[in-house]
Amino acid sequence: MLSAREVMRVSKIIPVISINSVDEMLYLAEALIEGGVSIFEITLRTPAALGAIQEVAKRFPHAMTGAGTVLNSEQFKKVEDAGASFAISPGLTASLAIYKSSIPLLPGVATASEIMQGIEYGFDAFKLFPANIVGGIGALKAFGAPFKEVVFCPTGGINATNAKDFLALENVLCIGGSWIVPAELIAAKRFDEITKITKEAILALNA
Ligand code: 3PG
Repeated sequence: MLSAREVMRVSKIIPVISINSVDEMLYLAEALIEGGVSIFEITLRTPAALGAIQEVAKRFPHAMTGAGTVLNSEQFKKVEDAGASFAISPGLTASLAIYKSSIPLLPGVATASEIMQGIEYGFDAFKLFPANIVGGIGALKAFGAPFKEVVFCPTGGINATNAKDFLALENVLCIGGSWIVPAELIAAKRFDEITKITKEAILALNA
């Protein structure tokens, strides 16, 4: 089984996706891959999400299709059965932490106590959420002192302007964000613009 860290090393950006139809997601997956991002966090925030995970995982086997907003072990099982390669949650509950799954979980944390609880369950990689609200770069630097072995994927309020500063931190392996997959561009089916935004983001991060 892949580790959460291996998932985090696939791409500097994990797009956080809310999708209204399987078709939209298939176009979006193509657009993102074309732009240089072949990992997707499809959040369970819409009725189409589970079907979209299933279809994208099948049609894009070389990409990494994951599920986001996985709030409990029932949902964890559902996304695993749908073929997700990883799961992300905004926080951590006991049932999620002990669920025996075949895919890695990247649980969300916002405080030192939550990191410590996660470490007790065996996690060493977390999503920092909502990153900009809970202290952003300052919080990540501060967590680096007591939690030297821990790495993060900050998510929430990350954009083209601040992404590079987050990624410059030693304990940040990747960042999550919805800015490269704007809902209005998806709704308007302007997928070529999403490819453009994605390419620009990758270029800027590698510059
Ligand atoms: C998430 O759910 O992970 C965040 O809401 C994404 O945050 P963003 O929309 O600010 O990128």
